[in-house]
Amino acid sequence: MTYIRPRTALDRMLAGIAAAARAPGEGRAVAAAIADCVADPALLDGVECRCSAERYVRHLLHADPEGGYAVVALVWRPGQMSPVHAHRTWCGFGVHRGVLTETYYSPGDPPVPSAARLLAPGAVAHGPADPRLIHRLANLSCGTAVSVHCYGVAFDRFGEGVNEVLAD
Ligand SMILES: [Fe+2]
Repeated sequence: MTYIRPRTALDRMLAGIAAAARAPGEGRAVAAAIADCVADPALLDGVECRCSAERYVRHLLHADPEGGYAVVALVWRPGQMSPVHAHRTWCGFGVHRGVLTETYYSPGDPPVPSAARLLAPGAVAHGPADPRLIHRLANLSCGTAVSVHCYGVAFDRFGEGVNEVLAD
């Protein structure tokens, strides 16, 4: 048997995610795999990661051939943020560059902010599909931020299969 050493930090991260994504407790193991490499400054070398003045931009890094998960990089310009949402699938994510603010919400109509924390490069988080786990990610800093996210659905189902949007 020939072992081929993964060549780049992105290769290593995607190999770790592939192993973790089918293990029990998917979100936690995937977040650990992301944590191992996400702060490597060379992680996204050669990857096209443009940003947009309109909204944060999603770039596909890897789609599981069996459709079980997909990995994306999100590029956030200052002031850009996700909607307030829960997840319809498990997820794990980490910050590659810049600083994001994650705000947690208590369920309600609309949801009520309950806590917030700053996520610097290397910080990771994960969660199961749970309509009571509500959060928002935002780039409230003065520089561009980049984060890496893995969700437990095929990429072509991201539109309806990832976020349960609860407020803008
Ligand atoms: Fe989320």
